[in-house]
Amino acid sequence: MSKTVHYLKDYRSPAYEVCKTDLHFDIFDSHTQVKSRLVVNPKRAGEPLVLDGSAELLSLKIDGETVAYELDLANEKLTVRDVPSESFVVEVETRLLPQENKSLMGLYESGGNLFTQCEPEGFRKMTFYPDRPDVMSKFTTTITADKKRYPVLLSNGNKIDGGNLSDGRHWVKWVDPFAKPSYLFALVAGDLAVTKDTFTTQSGREVAVEFYTTEADKPKVPFAVESLKHAMKWDEARFGLEYDLDVFMVVAVGDFNMGAMENKGLNIFNTKYVLADSQTATDADFEGIESVIGHEYFHNWTGNRVTCRDWFQLSLKEGLTVFRDQEFSGDRAGREVRRIENVRLLRQHQFPEDAGPTAHPVRPASYEEMNNFYTMTVYEKGAEVVRMYHTLLGEEGFQKGMKLYFQRHDGQAVTCDDFRAAMADANGVNLDQFALWYSQAGTPVLAVTGRLKDNGDYVLNVKQSIPATPDMAEKQPMMMPLKVALLDAESGVQTAFGYQGAIVNEAVLVVTEAEQEFTLAGVGRKVVPSLLRGFSAPVHLNYPYSDAELALLLSHDTDAFARWEAAQTLYRRAVGANEHALSQGVPLPGHGELLAAVGYVLRADVNPAFKTLLLQVPSESELWADGSDIDPMRVYRAREALLDLIAQTYANEIAELRLTAQDQEEQGGGEVYEYEPDRAGWRVLRNAMRALALRAEPKTIDFIALEYDKMAQNMTHEWGMLSAANHHESGKRNELLDKFAAKFADDALVMDKYFTLIGSSRRSDTLQQVQTALSHLKFSLENPNKARSLLGAFSRNVPHFHAENGSGYAFLAGKVLEIDRFNPQVAARLVQAFNICNKLEPKRRALMRAELQGIAAQEGLSKDVAEIVGKILA
Ligand code: PHE
Ligand code: ZN
Repeated sequence: MSKTVHYLKDYRSPAYEVCKTDLHFDIFDSHTQVKSRLVVNPKRAGEPLVLDGSAELLSLKIDGETVAYELDLANEKLTVRDVPSESFVVEVETRLLPQENKSLMGLYESGGNLFTQCEPEGFRKMTFYPDRPDVMSKFTTTITADKKRYPVLLSNGNKIDGGNLSDGRHWVKWVDPFAKPSYLFALVAGDLAVTKDTFTTQSGREVAVEFYTTEADKPKVPFAVESLKHAMKWDEARFGLEYDLDVFMVVAVGDFNMGAMENKGLNIFNTKYVLADSQTATDADFEGIESVIGHEYFHNWTGNRVTCRDWFQLSLKEGLTVFRDQEFSGDRAGREVRRIENVRLLRQHQFPEDAGPTAHPVRPASYEEMNNFYTMTVYEKGAEVVRMYHTLLGEEGFQKGMKLYFQRHDGQAVTCDDFRAAMADANGVNLDQFALWYSQAGTPVLAVTGRLKDNGDYVLNVKQSIPATPDMAEKQPMMMPLKVALLDAESGVQTAFGYQGAIVNEAVLVVTEAEQEFTLAGVGRKVVPSLLRGFSAPVHLNYPYSDAELALLLSHDTDAFARWEAAQTLYRRAVGANEHALSQGVPLPGHGELLAAVGYVLRADVNPAFKTLLLQVPSESELWADGSDIDPMRVYRAREALLDLIAQTYANEIAELRLTAQDQEEQGGGEVYEYEPDRAGWRVLRNAMRALALRAEPKTIDFIALEYDKMAQNMTHEWGMLSAANHHESGKRNELLDKFAAKFADDALVMDKYFTLIGSSRRSDTLQQVQTALSHLKFSLENPNKARSLLGAFSRNVPHFHAENGSGYAFLAGKVLEIDRFNPQVAARLVQAFNICNKLEPKRRALMRAELQGIAAQEGLSKDVAEIVGKILA
C-alpha cells in the first residue's frame, strides 16, 4: 500500500462550499440507505468537484442528471471534472451495512441500536461529501425506520416534524439551525429510554435536557444529568457562554472508540462517562463523568460555534476545551489536587510521547491517519499551552481574549494562530514568539541556578533547551511563564522581593531567551527558590536542590504543586539510587532523608487527597521518560524496593492513618456511600493505606477477605480492596476476583474493572490469566472498553509486558494484528505500548523490534497501525 501523507503547508481553502445539506436515512433490517441533497456553491469555479467517500455508491446526480465521475478507492475520493460554474445541486445515494461495521466509525450497530461517529473522517463512510471541517453547512435530517425496533430517532438540532408511515414504519425530521462541518453530524436510532430534565439559561430560556440509555441503566443517569447542569451554569458564570439550542441530548453507547463526542445538540458518550451509582462506580469514575460531561458541553462554544479550519488545528478546540474542563473540575472541588492530577497525567503519558518516535507539535505539521493525532500532546499539552496564556495574561486578560475570539470567529473554522491573535490583540501584547509552542515538539528543559549577590539581590539564571525530536533537530527558544517565590532558607517563610518596581511575594517571570537572568531585588538573606509554581509551563525543571532544601519546600511551600514536586524529586532520586545499587549489585541505600520526608507527610495536617498524592511514587513510565538503555525490570525493582521500605518503616503510622481515614469518612455521612468530594478524599487515602499495609504484611489479605462483604456497598472500597489484593500470589486473591466477577457479571462497566485487575496483576501467572480472560463469556475483543481494560492494562504491566523472554511483546503484537482487522483505531492505540522500543536495553529492543517488523509485514495492515509502527522502526 502506498502511503499518503497530509501536510499542513499544503492547505487550500475549499473550491466548493455546501450551503445546505439535506439527508435522508432509511433504516431497514438488512441495510440503511442514505440519500443526500447538497446545495453547492463554487468558490473557485472551473476546478473539479472532489468529494470524500468510501460508502457503496448507488447513484450520483448533478442538477438532476447523472454525470461522469472518477472514483479513487484507495484515497476515498470521488472527482467530477465538469460541474456548473454557478450554484448547483448534488444528489448522492449510498447503501450501508451498519451491522457489519466493527470500526465504530460512520454508522454502526451496538446492542441492537444504531449510532454514528463522524469525527474526524467518519462522515465519508456514509455518503460522498467534502468531509473537511472548513466546509460548514446547515443540515436537515429525515430518518425513517420500523417504529417498534427503532422508536427513538435522533439527530442534531430541533425535531420539527414526524409521523407514521405504512408497514409499521415512522419518520422524523430534524433541523439544525447552526451551520456545522460534517464531523459534528450525528444520528441515533433505537429502542432507548429517556431521562428528562430542564435547564434555564441566564437569559431565561428553558432548555430541555435529555439523556438516552437502556431502560435498565436509567437509575445510573442522575449524576451525569446533574453534572451537565453544573457545567451549563459554570460556563455562563465563568465564561459568559450560554447554550444555544432548545434541547441538549446525550446518548450513551457501550461500543465507542473514545470517551465521548460533542456532536451539535446530540452528544454521544461512551457509557463509562454517563452511568454511575455508588455500587458500581468509584469516586474517580464520578469525577471522570463530571469532567467529560463538562468537556463535551464546553465544546458547544469551543469546537462547534468556532471550529477548526483543518485537522492540524485540532488543539484549537481540544487544548482549549481540556483547559476549560480542568478549570470546571477545579472550581467544583479541590483545585490544587486537580492541578497536580493534571500534571501527573501529562508526565505519565505526554512527556513520554514527546520524547518518543511519535513526538509531534501541539499543531502537527503532517499526518498519515488523522485518528492517530487524538493524542496526549494535542489534548493535554495543548491545554497547558492555553493555560500559559492564562498565566501570562491573568483571568481578566484571558477572558478579554476569549471575548474577542468569539466576536471575530463565531460561525467560522479557524486556526491556532487566530486564537493566539485574539489573545494578543485583546491585551495589546505581542505573542509572536509564543507561536513556537504550536510548531516545536519536545518537552523543554529549564536549567535554573540562583545566587545571592552582595547587594542583597537574588539572581535566577535560566537556561532553556528543547530536545531534538524525529521531526526537527534544531529548535528556537520559546516564551513561557515561570512562576517563582522565595522561601527563607532557615524558617521556610515566604520572602518578599522587588520585581519590576513592586514588592511582591510571587512573580511570573517571562522566559524568552536561551539563557536569561532575572533579578529579584532586596532579598538580603539565604533563600530557597520555589520554582514553576502551579506547574506554570509544561517543562522539565532542573535546579540543584539539596535533599534538605527539598524537605524545606515540601514542608513549607505555600504552593501545592511545588510541595508535591519536592516530594516527587526526592522519590525520583531515591529510585535512581536504588537502580544504581541494583546495577552494581551492592546493598540498597537506607534513604534516611527521604524516609524523614515521608514521615513528615504521614503526620502532616493536609487534606487527605493531597496527602495521598504526596505519598505517590512516580510511575515507571515517568521515571524512565528520558532514559536510554532502559532495563524495565531494574526500574520496576528499584521502585518496588522503595515502596517496600516505606511500607515497612511506617507500618504503624500507615495502620493508624488507615483508621483515621475510615473514621473521618464515616463521620462525613455514616453508612450512606454517596460520591462527595471531601469523603472521596478520605477514601482515596484509605485505599492507599490499604495497599501499603498489605505490602508490608501480606497476611493482611485475610483481613481484606474478612472485611470484604461489609465494605462491598461501595465500588470505591471494593476497588481499593481488590487492587490492593490483586498482586497477591495466594488463592485468596483469585477467590476475591471470582466473587467480584460473579456479582457483577451483568454490569459491563464493572466487568471492565475486573478485566483491568486481571491485566494489571503482578502475580506470576498473569499472562496465563489474561489469555484465559480472552475467552471469558463477558469479554469481547470487539468492544473497545474491554480491549483497553484487559490489553491496555497488560501493556502497562511492567514485569509482564517486559518479561525477559519476550512473551509479553509477542502476546500484545498478536492482539494488535487481530484487532487491526476490524478496528484500526483501537489497534493503533495499543501498538503504542511499543513506542519505548528504541530506548530499551539491547536484548529487549531486539525482541520488540522483531514483533514490530512482524506487524509491519502483515498484509492488509491499516494505515493507522502502519503509521505508528513505521515511526517506531524508522
Ligand atoms: N472530540 C472528542 C472529544 O474530545 C473526541 C473524539 C474524537 C471522539 C474522535 C470520537 C472520535 O471530546
Ligand atoms: Zn474534546
